[in-house]
Amino acid sequence: NEIKVFCPATIANLNCGFDVMGLCLEGIGDEMIFRKVPEKGIRITEITGADLPYETDKNVAGVAALALIKSANPDFGFEIEIHKKIKAGSGIGSSSASAAGAVYGINELLGRPFSKHELVAFAMKGEVIASGSEHADNVAPCLLGGFTLVRGYNPLDVIKIESPSEIYAVVLHPHIEVKTADSRAVLPSSIPLKTAITQWGNLGGLIAGLYSKDYELIGRSLQDVVAEPFRKSLIPNFDLVKNSALDNGALGAGISGAGPSVFALCKGQSSAERVAYAMSSSYLDTGIPFDIHLSKV
Ligand code: HSE
Repeated sequence: NEIKVFCPATIANLNCGFDVMGLCLEGIGDEMIFRKVPEKGIRITEITGADLPYETDKNVAGVAALALIKSANPDFGFEIEIHKKIKAGSGIGSSSASAAGAVYGINELLGRPFSKHELVAFAMKGEVIASGSEHADNVAPCLLGGFTLVRGYNPLDVIKIESPSEIYAVVLHPHIEVKTADSRAVLPSSIPLKTAITQWGNLGGLIAGLYSKDYELIGRSLQDVVAEPFRKSLIPNFDLVKNSALDNGALGAGISGAGPSVFALCKGQSSAERVAYAMSSSYLDTGIPFDIHLSKV
């Protein structure tokens, strides 16, 4: 009647896959506890690590949970505790971890009426509250693990992507907050055909590289001509930290989700450690506090 769930952080976009690609970080995440109770509905009983609303319909986890029970219609309810470790506005899927965690935990206590793919749609309902837009590129990898692709939104078609075993992600999180809604507001509503061609060439290359375990192809595909040129001005010293990753052997690097975190993908742990050291050293000079994570994918 009670379950504790680990809700991992995620990197959305993976630069060339704006709103469609994402990956799951195994080593960083929140914790949530779910309890079955006789009273119907969803009640959030405890939140630690963040200043978030307890009102179910204003809370990302609450809204996602409500979407699920509306469909499942159980004759009992749930209490939720949320213990946040992922900072809001950090660019590694803080709100998505809560939304995905909520639907996962409740589905488990209901005896798994929904598949993980089906849970993505419920989790997206929570994501809207946080960002103002329904995107699944954080909630999908959070629920399915590894790399995921949202092949389509209408209807939702989420695909788990094969990937080589030696991929590591490094994430540098500058301690400033960038709201997803603000980071979306700097983007143009349409892009030139030439830009689209470059982007979908890279996205196809990334998928092909992941399936064929071609690290070099993965690396040269990790380029974003759609969002990064507009968003990078929101991240102090973005080019400096990105270039330090690339100069020190990262396969590729870019903005994690809507920022301000900067990610690098690496082949192997020792390469990732070297890249993490280089990124930290370059950022130390800026004087902006930050933290850095290294995680296997
Ligand atoms: N794809 C989303 C964006 C992820 O870049 O705006 C952030 O939630």
